[in-house]
Amino acid sequence: MLNGLGKPGTKGHRQYTVNSKHPEFRGQKGVNGSDFPIRYNFVILREMPRTRTFISLVYLLTGTVSLIAEPILRAGQIHRPVTGRNGAVPAAAGLEVLKNGGNAVDAAVTVGFCLAVTLPRAGNIGGGGFLLYHDGQSGQSHALDYREVAPHKAHHDMFLDAEVNVDPELSRYSPLASGVPGTVAGLIEAHRRFGTLPLADLMAPAIRLAREGFPVHEALREQFTNVAQMLKLLENFPLGQRGHNSAQSTHITVEVMKRAYADRSKFLGDPDFFEVPGNQAMDMESPETTQFFIVDAWGNAVSNTYTLNFSFGSGIMTHSTGILLNNEMDDFSAKSGVPNAYGLIGGEANSVEPGKRPLSSMTPTLILRDGSIHGVTGSPGDSRIINTVLQVILNLLVYEMNFAEANNAPRFHHQWLPDILRIERGFPSDTLRMLKELGYQTETSYTIGTAQTIVRHEEGLLSVASDPRRLGGTALAY
Ligand code: DON
Repeated sequence: MLNGLGKPGTKGHRQYTVNSKHPEFRGQKGVNGSDFPIRYNFVILREMPRTRTFISLVYLLTGTVSLIAEPILRAGQIHRPVTGRNGAVPAAAGLEVLKNGGNAVDAAVTVGFCLAVTLPRAGNIGGGGFLLYHDGQSGQSHALDYREVAPHKAHHDMFLDAEVNVDPELSRYSPLASGVPGTVAGLIEAHRRFGTLPLADLMAPAIRLAREGFPVHEALREQFTNVAQMLKLLENFPLGQRGHNSAQSTHITVEVMKRAYADRSKFLGDPDFFEVPGNQAMDMESPETTQFFIVDAWGNAVSNTYTLNFSFGSGIMTHSTGILLNNEMDDFSAKSGVPNAYGLIGGEANSVEPGKRPLSSMTPTLILRDGSIHGVTGSPGDSRIINTVLQVILNLLVYEMNFAEANNAPRFHHQWLPDILRIERGFPSDTLRMLKELGYQTETSYTIGTAQTIVRHEEGLLSVASDPRRLGGTALAY
């Protein structure tokens, strides 16, 4: 059985409706007014909402930002987004749907199923994920959780051997590695609620690609949400004055990252199963996922992240269907304090239980301005997703980059444990030296995340940018 088919509010399916105009989200002023954005709602599907209410999904950041008044393109920019007026998508099949009069959800359904065929290492129907939808007409945002759940016979110690040690083979490459997939149910549910064109028409391109084949890309051949929490904390620091990727701004951001990831490890787990303690998790003082987005001419927007976990998931395919199965069970904490494949540790909050969702770092994100869609972003990249999305948002709103620059700029990552600051190539050597002097153990990292970002300008023009870190990533607009 697929999860995600239950009624909203049941364990099998969670849908959150977010009214960005809710008074609770008004008037939260950034401490550093000149350094932080104005009139932006961040609608972020937190990896584990603390409560079942929509407040856990939304943060309103206020202050001032010059981005709104900025020209769409400035002279001197090295990286530039693609622009269009009617729609923007990451794949040609999705563009066709928009041209045929479909809305953002229609196009998302097509793209979601097509990627399961053309990008089998990551696009999927044997996995799960999260989809955010902003309805341009009502101004409401909706979050659909179609994450896999642990099967009914799953149990707390299922990944331990006779010596009570974790056996990673079991949680990563065995039939036990798979959670019950949610992708098909999730995409169909999104279509049932918000789609406009017939489902059969939307699935036809994927079926055609599967039957007739397609040119294989070079890349294929080779082959807590913490962001809002961190943004809130970072409001207290004049990051903009310190400068993008300077030692000081990196130091401040890394310290915030460490605390957010520590909270994630200690307090977060499926809230259907684990009571995330009060404000604790928010009280900060104390290799193959797919992100795609679609914005249409009506101001509707979708941000979707879904995954099989590893490249090709568990590597196991079902005989009868040929569907590749996920190995999402490794996102659970198999034993308290023992790291998973991404080095993330966890405890009881994220222990294995039947029907429970493993903790996820996936962070599809909508950026709203005055209740309307302004931007959409998100990224694959395992535990580094959260920090990738954080840095794209900071680049946009604090460092005043355009969407292409924001995606492309070198990134860094710290996840509390291991206590290593991973830094992409492209950082000035002076910054690296100063960070070492500050006591960080630094490491040159392979690429951190692959952001996909769209901005919708006030005049209705769309700018879309696909991260060059991923071969074959596409940004299309018309
Ligand atoms: O849900 C999670 O956090 C992980 N299963 C995501 C895995 C991932 O992003 C792999 N590669 N890009």
